[in-house]
Amino acid sequence: MSARRLAISQPDNFKLSASAKKKIASWVKKYPKDRQRSALIPALWIAQKDAGGWIPEAALREIGDMLGMAYIRVYEVVTFYTMFNLEPVGEHHIQLCGTTPCWLRGSDDLIAVLERRIGPRGSVSEDGKLSWVEVECLGACANAPMAQISNSQDDLYYEDLTAENFEALLDNLQSGGVVKGGPQNSRHTSEPEGGNTTLKGEGPYHEEKIVYLPNAEKKTKLSTHGGGAPKAKRKPAKTKPAASAAKGVSASKPKAAKPKVIYTDGPTDGAPDDLKKIKGIGPKFEGDLNSKGIYYFRQIAAWKAADVKMVEELIDSIPGRIKRDEWVKQAKSLAKQLSSQASKQGAKS
Ligand code: FES
Repeated sequence: MSARRLAISQPDNFKLSASAKKKIASWVKKYPKDRQRSALIPALWIAQKDAGGWIPEAALREIGDMLGMAYIRVYEVVTFYTMFNLEPVGEHHIQLCGTTPCWLRGSDDLIAVLERRIGPRGSVSEDGKLSWVEVECLGACANAPMAQISNSQDDLYYEDLTAENFEALLDNLQSGGVVKGGPQNSRHTSEPEGGNTTLKGEGPYHEEKIVYLPNAEKKTKLSTHGGGAPKAKRKPAKTKPAASAAKGVSASKPKAAKPKVIYTDGPTDGAPDDLKKIKGIGPKFEGDLNSKGIYYFRQIAAWKAADVKMVEELIDSIPGRIKRDEWVKQAKSLAKQLSSQASKQGAKS
């Protein structure tokens, strides 16, 4: 690893924000007394986010004081890990992997793109949007070549890069667009391109076949929802007779049936909605959602927090993204539009 030094030009009066200090203090509390320095890595990470993507020297001193550590110890750690930036970076900071698997799969072509568009390693683009460094293996070799791109919100992996899709990705970032992390080709996570090549036939875990868990002490039925945990049987809800019915008043309009969270037999309630109308869902996410039995705006509109968590796991989405992109809110409004269109059409006919 090359020598890493603090930036020559440092801000005059940098101080960690109150919220960053509060977060660091909460990390310190996780460790036993006299072991506060164990919080050093998370403290540096918090400071880096707080300072806009890099760590000024003043922040190192503040952290040393907070953790009761000699400044030199803080310096030793921050100069060792390439995840800590010692110079100002662009709005989107690119860490490109140049280790053997990524190199064999074309990381040199990506470096050529970065050098042409941004400059030599460690440069920031003129518009301040992009900066880049080369790093060692980031552990995503199955999707080589790849880069991690960080900004104030996210630290995402962008995988299966080529010079062409990387150019397009950088264009998008520079123009303020949103680029979904993960494979930048048609692959789903690290699965083979074009879909699975094994475990496709009838077997103990085949989606359609209800079987019992092998080796389980009790015979436990598998769910038919694609291998998830078995679902507990729900007791039928006790229903109170409506007050109006008790008084002999005729019941008001019946409520529409609640949509299913997952349709295991395909879109049985009509043609699927165009889920791509929800900002944050592209063709890839739509395919993933459909493959898990989610086809309609009204389904998404009815999600509760637990459903969101389950769906994020099902489609391998980053935790918190569905909430951040407001899928449920958007789905509610799209479902409402569809239902008012349908009632207008019904009134005409
Ligand atoms: S070699 Fe690039 S991620 Fe492992």
